[in-house]
Amino acid sequence: MASEIIKEQSKIDPQLQKIVAVFDQVAADYDKEALRWFPFCADKMMDILLPSPGMKVLDVAAGTGALTIAAAQRIRPVGRVYAIDLADGMLSVLEAKTRVMGLENIDLFNMNGDQLEFRDQYFDAVCCSFGLFFMPDMQQALREWWRVLKPGGRIIFSSFAQGAFQPMKGLFFDRIEGYGVEFPKGRGQLVVDRLQDQVTCTKLLEGANCSDVQLHHAQVGYHLQRVEDWWDVLWGSGFRGLLLQLDEKERLRFRSEHFKEVSGLAKENGIWMDVGVNLTVGRRA
Ligand SMILES: C[S@@+](CC[C@H](N)C(=O)[O-])C[C@H]1O[C@@H](n2cnc3c(N)ncnc32)[C@H](O)[C@@H]1O
Repeated sequence: MASEIIKEQSKIDPQLQKIVAVFDQVAADYDKEALRWFPFCADKMMDILLPSPGMKVLDVAAGTGALTIAAAQRIRPVGRVYAIDLADGMLSVLEAKTRVMGLENIDLFNMNGDQLEFRDQYFDAVCCSFGLFFMPDMQQALREWWRVLKPGGRIIFSSFAQGAFQPMKGLFFDRIEGYGVEFPKGRGQLVVDRLQDQVTCTKLLEGANCSDVQLHHAQVGYHLQRVEDWWDVLWGSGFRGLLLQLDEKERLRFRSEHFKEVSGLAKENGIWMDVGVNLTVGRRA
């Protein structure tokens, strides 16, 4: 049977509501070629986790399902992936993909990743790709993931490493700041930068009672062939929240100015986009 999104009616805080609203808006652009680091990273995470057929896997903040799909293929036909997210727009894209791919071992839930509606010790693995840094209390979220994990099961999460998207990200921020755009908590406090530091990542898993904690660094970046690909990255990801503070006329002017500076970075193979990632994994003893 095809997947259906199952709703959970918990209240979410206003800051999180804003994040979710951005993801609802980007959903249709999220699977563009320029953003292919998401499936690349999901594959790396599966290579570390090596889930076996028959397992029950939870994908927290599943989005349009890069990791859900990678996991579902590895554990099918009996194993199931439970994919949860708060953005219905993202889950709807994932639902459509499961139909096209004929994957019948995926269940979708609209659910908050730090308040799980699953019973204790239910899953063989809990995975989260580029989602933990959105949770206001990351330590509490990880404890919640540990709660639903069977003894011997593993948690793995990914986050952006220092230097990801640079130097384009710096140029983008410098220029958009000049337009009076405000960063939710200031430029130095971006949620996506919260897990750049490797010690922070490993300490969080240890603080959630995990043992055998390891961190793997991987590079899932590539050369962009056109400056428009960088715009696809900005417009199809959480960066869009900043661009939406500009009206359409300002956005066009901004785009043309920003294109000039990013074009200047092109080399023989195109524009290198660094997507260094931290993959942190631990076990429930
Ligand atoms: C950067 S996307 C990553 C999606 C997917 N894991 C991937 O790697 O392509 C982050 C996702 O986290 C979701 N999200 C943010 N906070 C969440 C929360 N507290 N609970 C569940 N989902 C959340 C967003 O709606 C969005 O779909």
